[in-house]
Amino acid sequence: MSGGVLASGILSHPQSLLARHSPIFSAGPNGGSQKVILDTDPGVDDAFALLLAMRSSELNVVAVTAVAGNVPLSVTLPNALRLVEMADRPEIPVAGGASSPLIRKLVTAAYAHGNNGLAGVEFPPARLQPVKEPASDLICRLVRENAKNICIVGIGPLTNIALALRQDPEIVSMVSSIVLMGGSLSGGNVTPAAEFNFYVDPEAASIVFGSGIPIRMVGLDVTRRVQLTERHVQALQAGKGRVSEAAARIAEAVMKMHRGADSERGPNLHDPLAVSSLIRPDILTFEDYQVEIETMGSITAGESVGWKHAPARHAAPMEIASAAESASDFPFRANAKVATGVDSEKFFELLISRLTTTGK
Ligand code: BDR
Ligand code: CA
Repeated sequence: MSGGVLASGILSHPQSLLARHSPIFSAGPNGGSQKVILDTDPGVDDAFALLLAMRSSELNVVAVTAVAGNVPLSVTLPNALRLVEMADRPEIPVAGGASSPLIRKLVTAAYAHGNNGLAGVEFPPARLQPVKEPASDLICRLVRENAKNICIVGIGPLTNIALALRQDPEIVSMVSSIVLMGGSLSGGNVTPAAEFNFYVDPEAASIVFGSGIPIRMVGLDVTRRVQLTERHVQALQAGKGRVSEAAARIAEAVMKMHRGADSERGPNLHDPLAVSSLIRPDILTFEDYQVEIETMGSITAGESVGWKHAPARHAAPMEIASAAESASDFPFRANAKVATGVDSEKFFELLISRLTTTGK
């Protein structure tokens, strides 16, 4: 767990940690090998995820698309712009997307992220403007332009991604993979069944899991095991530069929010963990699962039900069902790699080193 970060000397020798994972930020506008579109609802942990991605030369962030989720789109879009500007990556196009889920009313999580989505920390408005293209159009265009060589990273409700897939179904065969933070095979964080991103837009999650695109699901099963602590905050504070300063302020504020909730430790850093898997593949281990998203239940909507082997069976037909309707089996077909193991120490080493290295 995160205590290992301390054992590695991060607090007493923050520079030594940086050296271990440097050079961190050397990619220019066209740098990086893995092209990614980041679809996000910033959001405290989204902020860390965006900064991590934009400060990692292994990734070439070709767009950031904002969606409503943790807070409304009117807040997530300006936050996305602020974060891109903060990372000094003004060449990255930022697009606004869906302001509500596909067919449901928006439920937000301002209680966890603050009304401004950044734990109440105020940053000046970005000078950067969003591109005119709506998020789903931009996703479709960039996927076509980079066919089979682009990964979509979904760290908010999957509305924008589902809209893109509905709009242009041919892109299914052109997306190399979708890495997403969402779901859980071990209970939810909003309801006993559902994780927040899938709870907010279960229909969108269902479209994504039914698409046939290779999926890596980084859910609560692993993100619950990466928790921010005071010592991580201190390590961020020890860094120099605009990014580490901003990250430290947000981290400090969110720790205060958690202390208010009588918790000794801070929040789980869900979204950057998903991003980290693209930078350092040894942080997470994955297993093949078939995952289906529950959309019907009044208590279970948004639940990700996963199984590894046997065929699953639909619910028993109602008494009034026609004779043709039976409790049909559906054969096992793995549609996702689900993260089941995590090296929290490696994750925090990566995150903190990337955010504290002085880049551009
Ligand atoms: C997910 O929900 C949001 O609150 C976080 O940003 C993360 O994407 C965790 O359930
Ligand atoms: Ca998020």
